[in-house]
Amino acid sequence: MTDTPRLLGISGALRAGSSNTLLVHEAARAFGPADFTFGDIRFPLFDEDIEASDGVPDIVHKLADHCVAADAIVISTPEYNKNISGVLKNALDWLSRTGKAPLTGKPIAVMSSAAGRAGGERTQYSLRHCLTPFNPRILQGPELMVAGANAAFGDDGRLLDAKTFEVLTRLMGTLRAEIGKDTGR
Ligand SMILES: Cc1cc2nc3c(=O)[nH]c(=O)nc-3n(C[C@H](O)[C@H](O)[C@H](O)COP(=O)(O)O)c2cc1C
Repeated sequence: MTDTPRLLGISGALRAGSSNTLLVHEAARAFGPADFTFGDIRFPLFDEDIEASDGVPDIVHKLADHCVAADAIVISTPEYNKNISGVLKNALDWLSRTGKAPLTGKPIAVMSSAAGRAGGERTQYSLRHCLTPFNPRILQGPELMVAGANAAFGDDGRLLDAKTFEVLTRLMGTLRAEIGKDTGR
C-alpha cells in the first residue's frame, strides 16, 4: 500500500442521475483521504464469440487494472427486480475473464440504494453471492441501505439523512481498517 490508499468505487447503475453513483461518491468522501477512482462498467454485453475473436476489451482490462491496484473497493448496486443490475453482473463476468484475479483478497464494501423501503437489502445479498467466486474479503457490516432513493439525496448530491451518512462513515472506516491486513490469500 502507498501512503495514500487507493480506493476504487463502482456503481451498478449507468444513468447520469444514479443514486448509487451518488452514494459511491459519498462513500469516497466518508472514506477520507484517498486516491479515488470511479470505475467505468460501460462494457459490451459479454459474448464468448467476441472474446474469442477480439479478446477481452481494453475497457475491461482498464477496470481490472484499477481493481488490482486498489487497496480497497466499494460497490453500490441498485435493486432491479430483487437482484443486482445486469450491467453489474456483466461487468463481473467480463472481469473474471481477464486472467488477472482482480478481486482476490481485496477488501470490498457493498452497499445499495433503491426506491423501495428495504433499500436494496435483497440485492446486496445477491451481490455478495456474485462476488464469492472472486474470493474477495467482503465486509460483513455495518450494512448500508439507502431506501427511497429518489428523495435521499439533495441537489448537491449529498445524503440528506445524517444517520445514514454516519453508518456510511462507519462502513468506510471498517473498509479503511482492512487495508494492509495479511489474510494469507
Ligand atoms: C428494471 C427495474 C427494476 C426495479 N426493481 C426494483 C426492486 O426490485 N426493488 C426496488 O426497491 N426498486 C426497484 N426499482 C427501482 C430502483 O430502485 C430505482 O430506479 C433506483 O433509483 C435505481 O438506482 P439508481 O438511482 O442508482 O439508478 C427498479 C427499477 C428498474 C428500472
